[in-house]
Amino acid sequence: MSARPQAYRAALLYSLDDPASVGVAASYRHLEDGLLLVEEGRIRALGPAAELLPGLAPTVEVRHWPDALITPGFIDTHIHYPQTGIVGAGGEQLLDWLTRHTYPTELRFADRDYAGQVARFFVGELLRNGTTSALVFPTVHPESVDAFFAVAAELDLRMLCGKVLMDRNAPPALCDTPASGYEQSQALIERWHGRGRLGYAVTPRFAGSCSDEQLHLAGRLLREHPSVHLHTHLAENRREVTWVRSLFPERSSYLDVYAHHGLLGPRSLFAHAIHLGDSDCRQLAASGAAVAFCPTSNLFLGSGLFDLGRAERLGLKVGMGSDIGAGTSFSLLQTLNEAYKVEQLQGRSLDPFKALYLATLGGARALGLDERIGSLAPGHEADFVVLDWNATPLLQFRLQHTTSLAERLAVLLTLGDDRVVQETFVAGVSRHRREG
Ligand code: GUN
Ligand code: ZN
Repeated sequence: MSARPQAYRAALLYSLDDPASVGVAASYRHLEDGLLLVEEGRIRALGPAAELLPGLAPTVEVRHWPDALITPGFIDTHIHYPQTGIVGAGGEQLLDWLTRHTYPTELRFADRDYAGQVARFFVGELLRNGTTSALVFPTVHPESVDAFFAVAAELDLRMLCGKVLMDRNAPPALCDTPASGYEQSQALIERWHGRGRLGYAVTPRFAGSCSDEQLHLAGRLLREHPSVHLHTHLAENRREVTWVRSLFPERSSYLDVYAHHGLLGPRSLFAHAIHLGDSDCRQLAASGAAVAFCPTSNLFLGSGLFDLGRAERLGLKVGMGSDIGAGTSFSLLQTLNEAYKVEQLQGRSLDPFKALYLATLGGARALGLDERIGSLAPGHEADFVVLDWNATPLLQFRLQHTTSLAERLAVLLTLGDDRVVQETFVAGVSRHRREG
C-alpha cells in the first residue's frame, strides 16, 4: 500500500444503488473527465478533473488515460480455483461432470506445492480480467486453503475462501469426516480469518456431499464465529435436486436442508439457486442471504436459466459468479454478456447499468462487503480497473456507432473481455498492467 497520494484521470463510472430499486438514472455516477484521488489504499476523493486538478499538491503524480473508463474492480461471488485446469471439460451435466472431471482434478490439491502453483496462476487470471475480490472454493484439503490465502495475502487482495466440507458421495481421498472437517475449519479460521483483507467462509460443498452431522457442525462453526461467511451450492440441476430430496426425505425442500442446520443468514451465499420454488426464494431473501448468478456455468452444464426478475421482485440479493471451471470465462464482462442472453431467453433485457451493478456494488452487497468494496465513493478500498474502450479493432469500430453512455457500456459488456483490462489496482497498488 502506498502512503503517498496518487491521482488517476479518466472517465469514472460506478454504481450508487440497484437500478431495480431506484431506477436506472439514479443508479450510477459518471464523470466524463474525472479525477480519482487515492491515499493509503483508499479512495479519498473524486470529482471532475477540472475542479480537482488546480487544488492538487504539485508533488502528486497524475496518471491520465484519455480513452479509458475507470470502474470499481469486479467481484466474483462464486468461483473454484482448483478447477482452473478443467475449464471446458464437457460432455456431461452436473453430477456426472463432478465425477468425471472435477473430483479427479481436485485430488491433486493435497499437494501444497501444486496447490500453490495453481493458486498463483488463478489469481493472475483474476487480475488480468479485472476481478479484485472473489468468494473462492478450494478443495477439501486444508493445504489448498493455505496455498490460496498465501497468494492473496501477498497481493493484499480482499478474498474469501474456506476449506470444502464433504464427507460422502465422493472418492474417499476427497472426503473428510464431520469431526475432522470441523477441527480443520476451526484451525483455518484462527490462521486466516481477518488477517489483512482475508475472510473465512465455511464451505459445505453441497447437500449431496454432506451428511446431516457435517451440516450440523457447519452451523455450529457459523454460530461460534459470527463474522465468517457461508458458501455452498443450491438447486443447480434438476437431477441434483431430485437426488438431494431423496437423501434428506425428512426435509421439505433442498433449501430446507440448509435452513434446518442454521446455514441461512446475511453472510450466506448460495451458488445457482435455479430450481427453487417461490416460497424458498422468499425464505432466502428474508434471511438476508444472497445468491450467485453464474450464467456461463449454467449454460455450459445445461443446468437451467436463473430467474433474475424473480430475485428482483422478491428482494433477493444477487451477485455474479464465473463458477470456473463449470463456467467458461474468468471475465465478468463475458459473464454479463451471457447473463444478457439468459435474460433474453426469459423475455427480459439486462440493462447495462444493472449489469455494472451486479458485477460491482451488487456483488459487494451479496458478500456484505459494500462498505469496503464495489464502489469508487470516498472511504472505499481502492480496488479499481482501467478499461480501454479501444482494446480491439471491433470495439473501436463499433463504438463509433454509439451515441450514449448506456450504448457504449452495453457494447463493452458484449465485446469486452480480458483484453479491455488495461490495468488493475488493488488497495491503491497496480497489480496487473496489460502489455501493449
Ligand atoms: N455442486 C457441487 N459441487 C459443485 C462444483 O464443483 N461445481 C458446480 N458448478 N456445482 C457443484
Ligand atoms: Zn460452483
